[in-house]
Amino acid sequence: MKRIVYSLFLMGLATVGWTQTHKEYPPGVYPDRVILGLQGNPATSQSVNWRTDSTVTNAVGAIAEADPSPDFVSKAAVVPATTERVLLDGKTVLYHSVHFQNLKPATQYSYRIGDGTHWSEWFHFKTAQDRPAPFAFLYFGDAQNDIRSLWSRAIRGAYTTLPTVNFMIHAGDLITSSNADWQWAEWFEAGGWINGMVTTLATPGNHEYFKDEQGKPRVSRHWRPSFVLPENGPDGLKETVYFVDYQGTRFISLNSQAALLDSAVMTTEANWLVQTLSNNPNRWTVVVHHHPIYSTKQGRDNDDWRARMEPIYKKFGVDLVLQGHDHTYGRGLNMPLGKSRKHPDGPIYVVSVSGPKMYDIGLQNWMDRAASNTQLYQTISINGDKLTYQSYTVTGEKYDSFELVKNNKGHNTLNDQSPALSAERLELPAEYQKRYTPVQMEEYRNRFQEYKARKQARNE
Ligand SMILES: [Fe+2]
Repeated sequence: MKRIVYSLFLMGLATVGWTQTHKEYPPGVYPDRVILGLQGNPATSQSVNWRTDSTVTNAVGAIAEADPSPDFVSKAAVVPATTERVLLDGKTVLYHSVHFQNLKPATQYSYRIGDGTHWSEWFHFKTAQDRPAPFAFLYFGDAQNDIRSLWSRAIRGAYTTLPTVNFMIHAGDLITSSNADWQWAEWFEAGGWINGMVTTLATPGNHEYFKDEQGKPRVSRHWRPSFVLPENGPDGLKETVYFVDYQGTRFISLNSQAALLDSAVMTTEANWLVQTLSNNPNRWTVVVHHHPIYSTKQGRDNDDWRARMEPIYKKFGVDLVLQGHDHTYGRGLNMPLGKSRKHPDGPIYVVSVSGPKMYDIGLQNWMDRAASNTQLYQTISINGDKLTYQSYTVTGEKYDSFELVKNNKGHNTLNDQSPALSAERLELPAEYQKRYTPVQMEEYRNRFQEYKARKQARNE
């Protein structure tokens, strides 16, 4: 056991320090941190990534069509894996990835990974259909802190709510210290065998970034070794900027952190996005990035990012933008106050948080449903002309709900089902209640009343 002291900086105002112990997670000869990823067509291929210690040679994956009889084991094909040696905290560890190819669409497979002697258990996954068809996925805002202790209930709750999901999306800040191995270990421990059965798509946040010896910002040393993500993004942004087509929907990950750190990178991403959306045969389009286009709190907007990306989303009809970073919940759209929200002229924006780090909320004009001090996860399904979105608290209560229905011209109608749900959770986190001055508290109460009045007017 290692004893560490760390500090959490909130809003640059106060420092709260505490002591916490955490487990050690040394690699061994058996695979750990097993996770499904994607590199090619999800109907015909599937990738798996895992970790071992540096003694392991001959990493392989074994795969067979799944069968209720355990006799499938003898029929499994063995596929060589690629091994990457990574120096972390002065020690070499191995990350392996295997790419299963030429699979049949819409087919359940069993696989295991190992070195021929030290194997994982057999896991199941199912390939995508090779045409538009109904599917569902999970979306998580920032996990970031107390990942094993408190984020675990988000991913486990989400999987329990919808165990048939086709994949999971993480909108950045999976951890808080980009290169802290124990935090990545906690993230993998929380997901456990779910990661071995359900494909992960992740985008990096600011906390995945660090400055290297030359002072250059880089994505975590863990990022590319730990995940298999599509490598169809621009050079220098591989596995952080990418797209996947899944059963009639294009999913796009953008790297907002790299873009906000360097305007040339922002231009590269914007050009790539235009190209990727110009050439999009899918009926639906979902974009994920860490920093919100519209923040849940005044003063946290990323104006350059919004100015660059929102016109592209509108021009090409992006339906939904999934984000994190603000440690509160907000869902809405950019329509002038007083105008009907039934026919959005741009994407629905969501900011969510799945981990326990909580900020105060701003109740901004763009928001139709909000939450403060609440860990959440989302299930989203797409079936033909309809996208169904639901947000749940980690205790399993439905917290937000809407549908988008697409017409023949590609225009959406928004059916907001949230007014029928229980009242919004808008109490400030305890720490903010203590920290706020009377003037700040008064401002928050006023803002709260304005928000309520605005929503009431909308719902009438
Ligand atoms: Fe963040």
